[in-house]
Amino acid sequence: MAAVRHSLAVDLEGVRFPLPVLAASGCFPAGREHAGLIDVHRLGGVVTRSLTYGPSKGAPTPRVAETPSGIVTSVGAQNAGVREFLVEELPRLAKTGVPVVASIAGSTMEEYLRVASALQSEPGIVALEVYLSARDREHDDLPFYARRDVMADVVGSVSRLSSYPVFAKLPAFVPDVVEAARACVRAGAHGLTLIDAVPAMAIDTRTLRPRLGSALGGLSGPAIKPIAVGAVFRVARALPDVPIMGVGGISTAEDAVEFLLAGAWAVQVGTAALVDPSAPAAIAQGVLGYLKERGFASPADLRHRLRLDPEALA
Ligand SMILES: Cc1cc2nc3c(=O)[nH]c(=O)nc-3n(C[C@H](O)[C@H](O)[C@H](O)COP(=O)(O)O)c2cc1C
Repeated sequence: MAAVRHSLAVDLEGVRFPLPVLAASGCFPAGREHAGLIDVHRLGGVVTRSLTYGPSKGAPTPRVAETPSGIVTSVGAQNAGVREFLVEELPRLAKTGVPVVASIAGSTMEEYLRVASALQSEPGIVALEVYLSARDREHDDLPFYARRDVMADVVGSVSRLSSYPVFAKLPAFVPDVVEAARACVRAGAHGLTLIDAVPAMAIDTRTLRPRLGSALGGLSGPAIKPIAVGAVFRVARALPDVPIMGVGGISTAEDAVEFLLAGAWAVQVGTAALVDPSAPAAIAQGVLGYLKERGFASPADLRHRLRLDPEALA
């Protein structure tokens, strides 16, 4: 019998990553912070922090509250703006050869389009990820994802304008994540990233104050993994040909394998990479170990291996 040739490379309908584990948006500052801490060649790719057109000072501090079930954060898309990114960060990343997924944000539809235009034809970028939890100044400051028509409009307009494949990043807490995903794909999204942090809050009972400067934030880390796996599973069943990047609470190779079995084509690691920048690389190696041990050829092989009893979803 021929030996199985194992490969960790993944192909998301033309968007190729050498490894199935990427660093999630906002959790791998592409700047000098990580120089020497991590070999980017051991990452499948890097998703940038969400970029706005001009500099954005972000949410008031404090921005991170540790809780027993994960971290509650509100960064508010703090960044120096897309022009600064193109001058300062992208060249450094592009030189390493790591595939870059540029995450874009805005406070109006027009801003999303301006950011997407600024990123056109830049070396190193393989796809855009549209951050849909930003607040829409033109619609009562609601997050873009809160209104399906507005969300689809943003995703569709960016997809038409950009030459890059576009991934729409959705939170799990929309009225129906499958319908939200479908609306993004109908509008032109190439793929989906599931999920963003879960809306949350932490309060200091001593001071009687919220622990975040912005009061409300998002919960990330192991506590949200089952929510994310469930969202990936539901969307993957409904849209089996649409590439999904799974994210939420992954801190071990086993966690990543769960997402791949649920239907993800690749995964991203956020909070665990903040704790240990080498975590995504270690997780990728662990996935390889799992594939070898179980005789699977590639991460894509896992997508069809979930053993589901016929009566399970009846
Ligand atoms: C400090 C921090 C900053 C983040 N910034 C962004 C961001 O700029 N854009 C975005 O789409 N998601 C952002 N996220 C969400 C992560 O990309 C990810 O979707 C979420 O944290 C769930 O994954 P995790 O449990 O592995 O952290 C951020 C998360 C954290 C913890």
